[in-house]
Amino acid sequence: MAIREIVQYTDNFIRKKSKPVKIFDEKLWELLDDMWETLDEKKGAGLSAVQVGVLKRAFIININNMRIEFINPTITHTSGKQYKKEGCLSVVAQPFGYVARPNKVTISAYDRYGNPFSLTCEDWTAVCVSHEYDHLDGILYIDKLVTPPKGMEED
Ligand code: NI
Repeated sequence: MAIREIVQYTDNFIRKKSKPVKIFDEKLWELLDDMWETLDEKKGAGLSAVQVGVLKRAFIININNMRIEFINPTITHTSGKQYKKEGCLSVVAQPFGYVARPNKVTISAYDRYGNPFSLTCEDWTAVCVSHEYDHLDGILYIDKLVTPPKGMEED
């Protein structure tokens, strides 16, 4: 395992669209293991493969020690709206900012062995999943900054 360097928003690579994973092999597992080591070292909540310089549709999240890997994910349903302050390991030079995200997200994906699963998440987990999912299409939270309606701001 190894800690990988995180691509910053100032590098155009972060804007590239990631490609579907075709082979679920040791190379993918090594990438995911390295992503975990990198995420833990940075004490982040989520990390996408593009952020470590690999254009594969894969991301990991760690919310309250719930550690999940998503390969080739598809968001199949969203509902509600929430405003939370987000940050990003690829935007370390910028302050946190509010983004509007669905309150509930249903996502289908594959695990590292190619087994499909589906998950419905809420609150912070929904924010994190939406944020990482955006990375796969080169979208950053700083593209979506908003001023929340009064009384809707959450930290
Ligand atoms: Ni991010």
